[in-house]
Amino acid sequence: MTTPVRRTSDWMAVVRAEESAQPDAYYVDPCAEVFATEQARKVVDAFKPFHPPSEIVPVRGRLGDQTLLSSRVRQAVSVGAGSDSRPYRLPLDPPFVYYEVDLPGQLSGKAEALAEAGFQPRCRVVSVGTDLRSPPPAVAPGFDAIVATHWIVEGVLYYLTRAEADSVIGWITRQSAPGSWLTFDVPHPCFFTDPDRRPFLREMAARGVPFVGAVEDPVAWLAPHGWTAEAATHRDVAEGRCPWLPPLPPRLSARKQDIWLTRARR
Ligand SMILES: C[S@@+](CC[C@H](N)C(=O)[O-])C[C@H]1O[C@@H](n2cnc3c(N)ncnc32)[C@H](O)[C@@H]1O
Repeated sequence: MTTPVRRTSDWMAVVRAEESAQPDAYYVDPCAEVFATEQARKVVDAFKPFHPPSEIVPVRGRLGDQTLLSSRVRQAVSVGAGSDSRPYRLPLDPPFVYYEVDLPGQLSGKAEALAEAGFQPRCRVVSVGTDLRSPPPAVAPGFDAIVATHWIVEGVLYYLTRAEADSVIGWITRQSAPGSWLTFDVPHPCFFTDPDRRPFLREMAARGVPFVGAVEDPVAWLAPHGWTAEAATHRDVAEGRCPWLPPLPPRLSARKQDIWLTRARR
């Protein structure tokens, strides 16, 4: 299946590769270069005049890493994993199992490309082809819903309607034992009403990858599902109002994004 949204994964790799090259990098992903293709770099450059909210990429990456490393779980699911490389660069040793879920076919060749560049996973990686809009009941055969899981949903809820996002949260919750963690980013509705955002949003739509997802209050959204959440927008982090993320360098805080960063526990 070819859907334009698949390409966004390589665009994210370009943003991570660019951040990783900074002397004071907020987030380092040595694997990002593997997916930062020439074509993806051209697209990312073409987007720059439209001021994409790329600051969010290293910040959500850092949130995912730090939560995963402190969460004491032994399995994680990267939902809409794309070029996420955590099992290749974080100390996730056996018996840790890292599940990556993305559209059917999207992850094929990923492990091989990383191996060719010299990256081996630290733990078992299970790649699953699933459309989140109609997922099977379980992440994968063998997935253990009895033990706590860290769910990482990065850069995905932008592309799902609110009804689809509700359904994804329900799917995650049904497979989340007590002690599970969930981290994600999602726009606040005012991202869509800000006139300064219109050219960027139009460009995304023109490229077949419209942003459609928004959540007004992630804490209230998750509460009925039994999750206790903390949420801060990128703007909050940039203005020093988020004690659970390290301060941002000026490069990542000059422009402020009304996009939520959320961590939740069940
Ligand atoms: C912007 S990329 C984010 C990739 C990665 N999580 C990151 O932060 O770099 C969005 C990813 O979500 C996947 N995705 C979008 N819609 C999806 C759906 N309905 N089902 C499964 N995966 C989806 C895309 O294929 C793509 O790999």
